[in-house]
Amino acid sequence: MPPLSYRSPKTDVRESKIHGRGLFATADIGKDEIVAIKGGHIIDRATLQREITPRLGPVEIQIDDDLFIAPVNEDEREMSMLYSNHSCDANLGMRGEITFVAMRDIRAGEELTHDWATTDDDDYSVECKCGAPNCRKILTGKDWQRPELQKRYAGYFSAHLARKIALQK
Ligand SMILES: C[S@@+](CC[C@H](N)C(=O)[O-])C[C@H]1O[C@@H](n2cnc3c(N)ncnc32)[C@H](O)[C@@H]1O
Ligand SMILES: [Zn+2]
Repeated sequence: MPPLSYRSPKTDVRESKIHGRGLFATADIGKDEIVAIKGGHIIDRATLQREITPRLGPVEIQIDDDLFIAPVNEDEREMSMLYSNHSCDANLGMRGEITFVAMRDIRAGEELTHDWATTDDDDYSVECKCGAPNCRKILTGKDWQRPELQKRYAGYFSAHLARKIALQK
């Protein structure tokens, strides 16, 4: 079976200083180039919390208020995982809801990260281990509401968040 997700041939999964395994550039990547596309099943929040997260861990990407895209069993997990860790100084942003693109030119060897503020509208609060000089230390599922992040990631928010930001204005 072909993989559920797409990872650019210019990427590789390796051990990360941020957490576990991460996604890395193996060649230079140009601004706005597609780096990865998340594949899986469309799952509602209740199913994710009840059936997926307890068995597979954090494997999903949020695509709307109560909808997520995720693998549903162990066999699919590896075929769906993108391994992009969070960074407060991210180099990937979103195009639509499942496509990760380079927000700037990226050099071979750099870890490929996205900021969860560009994908998530949720109720969590977690400690960040990204190590970036501008690290927020505590990440919340409402970081998309922060004006400085709305400015920094303009054009790179997931479509469901871009719509909410536009409605705020
Ligand atoms: C989809 S996984 C990313 C891949 C993960 N590193 C692995 O090896 O499976 C997302 C999980 O990685 C961890 N993680 C990623 N970025 C992090 C960060 N900046 N600070 C703390 N934990 C992070 C968290 O446990 C989070 O739930
Ligand atoms: Zn951070």
